[in-house]
Amino acid sequence: MCGIVGYIGAQQAPPILLEGLGRLEHRGYDSAGLVVRADGRGPRALRVAKRAGRVRDLAAALPKRFAGTAGIGHTRWATHGPANDVNAHPHTDADQRVAVVHNGIIDNAAALRERLAADGVELVSDTDTEVVAHLVGRSQADTLEGKVSEALSVIDGTWGLAVLHADFPDRIVVARNGSPLIVGVGDKEMYVASDLAALVRHTTTVAMLDDGELATVTAGGFTTLRHDLTATAKAATPVDVDPDSYEAGVHASYMHKEMLEQPAAAERMLRGRLDERFGATHLGGLNMEPREFRAIRRVKILGCGSAYYVGQMGAGLIEDLARVPADAEAASEFRYRNPIIEPDTLYVAVSQSGETIDTLLAVQEIRRKGGRVIGLVNVVGSAIARECDGGIYLHAGPEVAVASTKALTNMFLGFALLAVQLGRVRDLSIADGTRLVTAMAALPGLVGQVLAKEEQYAAVARTLAEAPSLFFIGRVRGFPVAREGAQKFKEISYRHAEAYQTSELKHGPLALIDPALPTVAVVPADDLTERNVGALHEIAARRGPLVVVTHEDVDLGGVEAVRLDVPRSEPELDPILMTLPLQLLAYHAALHLGHDIDKPRNLAKSVTVE
Ligand code: G6P
Repeated sequence: MCGIVGYIGAQQAPPILLEGLGRLEHRGYDSAGLVVRADGRGPRALRVAKRAGRVRDLAAALPKRFAGTAGIGHTRWATHGPANDVNAHPHTDADQRVAVVHNGIIDNAAALRERLAADGVELVSDTDTEVVAHLVGRSQADTLEGKVSEALSVIDGTWGLAVLHADFPDRIVVARNGSPLIVGVGDKEMYVASDLAALVRHTTTVAMLDDGELATVTAGGFTTLRHDLTATAKAATPVDVDPDSYEAGVHASYMHKEMLEQPAAAERMLRGRLDERFGATHLGGLNMEPREFRAIRRVKILGCGSAYYVGQMGAGLIEDLARVPADAEAASEFRYRNPIIEPDTLYVAVSQSGETIDTLLAVQEIRRKGGRVIGLVNVVGSAIARECDGGIYLHAGPEVAVASTKALTNMFLGFALLAVQLGRVRDLSIADGTRLVTAMAALPGLVGQVLAKEEQYAAVARTLAEAPSLFFIGRVRGFPVAREGAQKFKEISYRHAEAYQTSELKHGPLALIDPALPTVAVVPADDLTERNVGALHEIAARRGPLVVVTHEDVDLGGVEAVRLDVPRSEPELDPILMTLPLQLLAYHAALHLGHDIDKPRNLAKSVTVE
């Protein structure tokens, strides 16, 4: 979602800000803007340029001599008011002496707007953010930190924000509450950003603000403060990231690159975590003793979008291997039904970004009620990771494309590791544990084998792309695979794709089957194969086109279908291998239709607002 970058130093800020904003594009946005502090202290000391559309549109429209050595920039994903030039950030106060960019939502914006209007302030935009600029501008505090802190004291909601003030030309003040804000340290120059992706080309020495913190950033350094302006004395530390991992390189898109990275990412996920001798797994980050694992009587998994669907796969793994009741629920719904939090339930929050607000709020609700939550999170040090009692980092590396691929695969592996762990302190035998651990070790190789058939999937995808609507079907282990397949397909191809349990077809959806509605069916070799094949016959009898993701030894009984065979692993691990062809089908359908694959319309990589 929205992104922030800032620069202060000796160089010209606009090119640095535009480049940084470009690196945040994948998060999803619909307008962009910049403000720079021009030299001198006159009324034109701050110069703003902003507009609806892409960062490249903003760059093309920048006025001549738009120069300054300090500035902040923003990509906005509309929440309050439509995506137009006026609502784009930065927002300024009436005198144009204060400029603010903001991620998050101000809950009491309506009341604050009314109060400001009653005081004679003319609000020009529909946004919640504009009130911050006016509040800072009207504050009587002596310092910019004092003004920002005073403004924040009357605001309810979430923010990552950056403020530039014409009267305090040597600094940018930033603040965080629920929305990430990172300070990057350069050589006599400093950066700020909402995401590491915008910084790594300049610096990997960073300080991540905590909720409730402010920071003063000058060309020479930074200091961190609480809202009462007492120092928190945070130091910057190097982060271990390879800047190249944020580049698409030779790939046409990040999604393509990230799909092909899956074997290597899966290997990183498993490294050091498989114990072949005991048929067990090591998950040190959970901070749990075997006794505590044994005490768990239920597992509840929470995530959004793809993380929710892989959570359903995870619940299946846990029930199969540990025989502990488990289910997954959309984190976005969870806290609104006053959930019962049980002391012997293990709650698992799943999130690539670690920022998804719905998941974060679910975690906070559980912890508030005394529950134990662990995280399956990719981004190290992210809000969800920090909020959990322990966790399993996914080690997928940066995932830039909106559609999650390598992180999703590693989420599945995280569940497999957890399921074996929970199983081996209970009734899962050493033989079964070893069977699973050995199969997991082989999985990265099998992932590679599936991906190697990309050309085959591409051809099928081009046909599917022509259909206005599709079904994805599966049963039991195959159903979350179908759900994730439909999710990917609609996210990036914009074709209507619906997932059903194969068993439910004849209770309704079968009415829609005809030659114009293709069905992608997940049919692993398992106890249900025969029944699944029966359903395929019912579809074929109604001349519905079929694509079947299956295993080589499955006999489809002469049904007319395009087969996509995946290699066999252990049955419990089949779901992830069957998910991979569906990623590639969605990808190639979107490619064929000419869509912007990494930045699908209306979607954002990290959904940081409810
Ligand atoms: C957004 C994306 C989805 C993603 C979901 C969860 O809705 O469009 O593709 O699955 O967020 O993201 P997370 O970072 O929590 O895994």
